Amino acid sequence: MTEYDNILVERRGRVGIITLNRPKALNALNEALMREVVQAARAFDIDTDIGAIVLTGSERAFAAGADITEMSSKSYQDAYVGNMFAGWDGFTSVRTPTIAAVSGYALGGGCELAMMCDFILASDTAKFGQPEINLGVIPGMGGTQRLTRAIGKAKAMELILTGRIMSAEEAEHAGLVARIVPAAELLDDAITTASLIAGKSLPVLYAAKESVNVAFESTLAEGLRFERRAIQATFGLHDQAEGMAAFMQKREPVFSHS
Ligand code: CAA
Repeated sequence: MTEYDNILVERRGRVGIITLNRPKALNALNEALMREVVQAARAFDIDTDIGAIVLTGSERAFAAGADITEMSSKSYQDAYVGNMFAGWDGFTSVRTPTIAAVSGYALGGGCELAMMCDFILASDTAKFGQPEINLGVIPGMGGTQRLTRAIGKAKAMELILTGRIMSAEEAEHAGLVARIVPAAELLDDAITTASLIAGKSLPVLYAAKESVNVAFESTLAEGLRFERRAIQATFGLHDQAEGMAAFMQKREPVFSHS
């Protein structure tokens, strides 16, 4: 397996796990770390023995944001000509389902990276926010767009304009988080959830994920048309025949991911 400097990568059955690992900087996201995250996610994505990916950090911090040390001396020219943050969203192009398992701080780019995942499981200690306003900048890894779509304009505006940090409970209530888990159980729960997903048919997972994501990029009519074509296409899969046969025969399906 590839060696990385800023992340840990492991596999448990059909689940790939990527752990952000810059503990001294609370997993602050720099160029090198994000290049590794995208590389590791893509490697799992092209491996059909992996059916779900968990992205996590430490108990104290999922990630405390983009690396302020790396950014602080940048000029406008550096940011613009160097196309700052371009490529960091490469994580969103993976077709395999992704789960963010968030404990502790998920601030700025940390919150934005968690929101790039298909859903977020949070520990009861998780803290979410977009505090960039306090640094004289704005969210730059999708926060103004994904947070607004996730929790609505009023709450996203309040968080982004004040820089206020919200608790796991508030984040769940607002719809940012799928579920809250006690901190000590977070990773086990995320892996169990990922294993449950990874046991489904991989091409059907791709279709389900793609169809949900179309809801954020299209009109209702376009989205419904996409969904109808996508479900019709599942009838070309062995796994559709197997899933329905297993139901009729009152047994568990055995998917071949084809
Ligand atoms: N970048 C670089 N280093 C960071 C960091 C960051 N985003 N966040 C924390 N660190 C470093 C600290 O500098 C500190 O390093 P030293 O020990 O070498 O001094 C170490 O991590 C531990 O941090 P603290 O001592 O500050 O720990 P704390 O428990 O007192 O506070 C915290 C924790 C509230 C998260 C605080 O560290 C903090 O406010 N961090 C910055 C959060 C932030 O502003 N994030 C947004 C960044 S901008 C961005 O993300 C842009 C974008 O949209 C992409």
